[in-house]
Amino acid sequence: MMNILENLERNYRNKPFLDHKRAVLSAPVRHIFMIATLGYLKSYKNDLPRILEIGSWFGASTLSWAQGLEKYFDSKGSIDCVDAWQPFFDIKNHENEDYVYEMEQLLEKDVVFKIFQHNINTIKKFTDVQFFRTLSDNFFEQNKGNLYDIIFIDADHTYNAVSKDIRNSISMIEDGGIICGDDLNLQLNEVDKKIANINKNKDFIQDPNTKKNYHPGVTIAVDEFFGKVNSWGGFWAIQKKSNTWHNISLKDIPIIYPQHFTKELLYKAEDHYNDIKDQIL
Ligand SMILES: C[S@@+](CC[C@H](N)C(=O)[O-])C[C@H]1O[C@@H](n2cnc3c(N)ncnc32)[C@H](O)[C@@H]1O
Repeated sequence: MMNILENLERNYRNKPFLDHKRAVLSAPVRHIFMIATLGYLKSYKNDLPRILEIGSWFGASTLSWAQGLEKYFDSKGSIDCVDAWQPFFDIKNHENEDYVYEMEQLLEKDVVFKIFQHNINTIKKFTDVQFFRTLSDNFFEQNKGNLYDIIFIDADHTYNAVSKDIRNSISMIEDGGIICGDDLNLQLNEVDKKIANINKNKDFIQDPNTKKNYHPGVTIAVDEFFGKVNSWGGFWAIQKKSNTWHNISLKDIPIIYPQHFTKELLYKAEDHYNDIKDQIL
């Protein structure tokens, strides 16, 4: 543990640290579309967008939102980050999953929280970044009445948790605002629904039909609230307009790569982008 933190101190002064195999947990390409979502929002809102991020981990997504604010809003706007930075997996449902064990170890030792603090300190001071170290349920309960232009859901991916995060987000989104999230690897129409339901309290499973891995809790919860949504490499988004939900298009928004990514993350993002670029919605 000390090694990571010493390394931070010594080699990453004023620089983001994402050089760790668990720094970016999902497909790096999704960060391109997070930045693009702010480009899309620009036509609905001229200044000071308020972003709520549920689940921040090392802060890679926070840095991507900050980059989007820099590009499209002169760095002006706010990002409220909510994360308990404490072990959260139901271990009996996730035995023999190496990534779960490694994540829990990092959270237990408070390494993740320290890296997150380091990373957000590298964000331009014009951007108002606040963090709330608490469970998302508590945050929503204690901040009723807040309104946001973007709410990004990326915390516990099991069904009950995602479902609650979406329901609470709906009560805090501005008209013209966007609810979005990570890890919609497959949509409900693409998977075996019965298997999805049986496993909805697991983080990640394989669909028996497609043989692809996905998060059943995210897939079911998103479908229950919004039906089939537009998504880009697993990042999904939907816009509220006069109390109805509308798909958004990111097709014509410039492609901007995260400046905080390591070479390896950039390579993965580029490679994946090249695979999907002809199907961007
Ligand atoms: C998938 S990671 C977030 C990754 C991050 N958004 C990124 O892209 O860099 C999930 C995070 O959600 C947090 N988390 C899990 N359950 C939570 C809950 N109920 N309330 C708040 N945070 C939670 C975990 O501590 C973890 O840091």
